[in-house]
Amino acid sequence: MNLRGVKPWIRAITPYQPGKPPEEVVRALGIADAVNLASNENPLGPSKRVVDALCEAAGQAHRYPDDENFALRKAVAERLEVLPGQLVFGNGSDEVLELIAKTFLGPEDDLLFAWPSFAMYPLVARGMGARPVQAPLDAALAHDLDALRAAVCERTRVVIICNPNNPTGSSVGAAAFDRFAESLPEDLLLVVDEAYFEYVRRADFPDALSWVSRRPGTVVLRTFSKFYGLAGLRIGYGVCDAELADLLGRARHPFNVNALAARAATVALDDLDHQRRTREQNAQGMALLERELGALGVRSWPSDANFLLVESGVNSYEALLRRGVIVRPMDAAGLSGCVRVTVGKPEENECFLKALQAVREGQT
Ligand SMILES: Cc1ncc(COP(=O)(O)O)c(C=O)c1O
Repeated sequence: MNLRGVKPWIRAITPYQPGKPPEEVVRALGIADAVNLASNENPLGPSKRVVDALCEAAGQAHRYPDDENFALRKAVAERLEVLPGQLVFGNGSDEVLELIAKTFLGPEDDLLFAWPSFAMYPLVARGMGARPVQAPLDAALAHDLDALRAAVCERTRVVIICNPNNPTGSSVGAAAFDRFAESLPEDLLLVVDEAYFEYVRRADFPDALSWVSRRPGTVVLRTFSKFYGLAGLRIGYGVCDAELADLLGRARHPFNVNALAARAATVALDDLDHQRRTREQNAQGMALLERELGALGVRSWPSDANFLLVESGVNSYEALLRRGVIVRPMDAAGLSGCVRVTVGKPEENECFLKALQAVREGQT
């Protein structure tokens, strides 16, 4: 299409590749059902309390949402012990990332992050015509914070640490994180993406929120998509200094968080029983997958999240798909022969393991 105004950096974008929808796999393969372990969602789904609240809220769908998200803001602020004005809500934490990009990045600027990491980081940079700069993970596929620090240059405006890191599952410990945060120039924005925070098991996980007051150019991202089981509603948030929150808020559209998402998130935050079950199921599923993958002689990397990076072999993604198991291929991220598998329900984990065993025995 020959339109003069199309920005070259928009034309150059390769769109985000989401996990394959199970309906598509079922249709294409003519199978009865597919197991979806592709997008790190909570296999338990939303709790009954959340579903009931959603049904009730649906009757008010003709009204615009509360632009301030007053009830949710208050609940999150109390839970995190921050001021309500320190929160920026978005249509998924993806949108908060985009608000950061709109506020901080242009064609002269760099967004710096480790790689492989979350696929949206290069996209939000490219969307603003900025340069995504990737510092390699170390040999164990964990953050190499010295390499990340060394990659900071005059063009760098924003540095992202994904902790735990998607897709490798590795996490940065408190001592290394604190040293890194301390070493960064104060006028650089540090974004700590904690999308999988609630699953973390390591005892020395960094207190990134404490850096929001220690270092005002810091944003911590959290989401309701994973642990809270609300991926389909799209809601996440950033925690930062109130002045920065005000700036990011200027870049957003009014009513960017829909009313049902805000209501569901408020209830989900309060549903401690569902949170406990989610944590337990994930820990059990993770232990099973790690043990059985080990027994199969398949390499996986230690994970502090609700997914595992698995060296399942060349073309294993397609072979698993043919067996009705949807995982995420990792070749495009530079991890050839690897897939990322979400910890599912017990029967889903078994299904994945069985399919993987068959694939490795050559029964594709
Ligand atoms: C590391 C990381 N950050 C952010 C997100 C985006 O989450 P949301 O659904 O809140 O936009 C994801 C989702 O996969 C993720 O893995």
